Amino acid sequence: METVVSGIRPTGNLHLGNYFGAIRSFLDMQHSHNCYFFIADWHSLTTHPHPDNIVRNVRTILAEYLACGIDPEKATIYVQSDVPEALELYLYLNMNAYLGELERTTSFKEKARQQPDNVNAGLLTYPTLMAADILLHKAVKVPVGKDQEQNMEMARKFARRFNTIYGVDFFPEPASFSLGATAVKVPGLDGSGKMGKSEGNAIYLADDPKAISKKVMKAVTDAGPQEPNSIKPEPVENLFSMLRIVSSEEVYNHFDGLYNSCAIRYGDLKKQLAEDIVSFTAPIRERILEIQADEDYLDRVVREGAERARESAVRTVAEVRRIIGFR
Ligand code: TYM
Repeated sequence: METVVSGIRPTGNLHLGNYFGAIRSFLDMQHSHNCYFFIADWHSLTTHPHPDNIVRNVRTILAEYLACGIDPEKATIYVQSDVPEALELYLYLNMNAYLGELERTTSFKEKARQQPDNVNAGLLTYPTLMAADILLHKAVKVPVGKDQEQNMEMARKFARRFNTIYGVDFFPEPASFSLGATAVKVPGLDGSGKMGKSEGNAIYLADDPKAISKKVMKAVTDAGPQEPNSIKPEPVENLFSMLRIVSSEEVYNHFDGLYNSCAIRYGDLKKQLAEDIVSFTAPIRERILEIQADEDYLDRVVREGAERARESAVRTVAEVRRIIGFR
């Protein structure tokens, strides 16, 4: 059975980007693959969160994961910091990761720009830790959104490099996995770019209907098409992308037709979009509230998840040690 690994940083609530970028594909695979889904709490340390927030954020994300339908009976759900073997692998991979290539990654350059007073080594070696997360279970598929493509390329490079240096065929090269043929990028509704926690443009799974409606109605549009069949500018295209994700094909085609004949009223489109987002998120939101209240269940899920994840991690790291020459 093929192994699948995916992760998410506990830095806020889950939004539609997380769901349709990564979680959705994982949900399908948990029945047919050997799946690990973890909460990347070490990764979140690059921005120095307050200690009081760490446990709370991990719990929130855990409840939200489960509410999405990730099934702890089928998939192994764990917290990254419960499996210290990843740190040993991270160290080994760092020995063969070069300053130049780490400095050149777009996410590092972006973060260094965003937090110029905190350009720490963890930020620089973020891709090696992510590679360790994936290679720890020798995963072949990794459900991620488009924004993680470069990190995934690094993970493949580190896997190949390890195999080449030691003359082994040990780590498989992990491939990004999305539901469609291309990686998913869920747009924000503020005109440009992707939906993100730090962008302030996210619709969260835990948002109530009123909040969702308010966010959608505020979405950026334009004066409307000036001639039939014109190309949609980015803010409008983004609204249509959201429609394609959460609404039926019929609804999408209806508004697309209105746009192409210059008869569209953005207010109507937004109203429909808000309604469709609410029908999608409402049952998840209900389950989030239920699961969050069940502390014992959450404890059990992470305890059992850590045990199962460690079994696999211990096996990989023992083999890596032997290959490297610690015998
Ligand atoms: P993070 O926490 O930023 O996001 C978690 C997942 O959600 C996807 N995503 C999106 N997909 C499509 N459109 C969007 N607007 C959007 N926003 C977020 C991300 O692509 C990601 O799949 N580095 C990772 C966490 C990580 C990880 C790993 C993932 C650490 N180790 C190992 C996979 C395997 C991250 O920061 O994701």
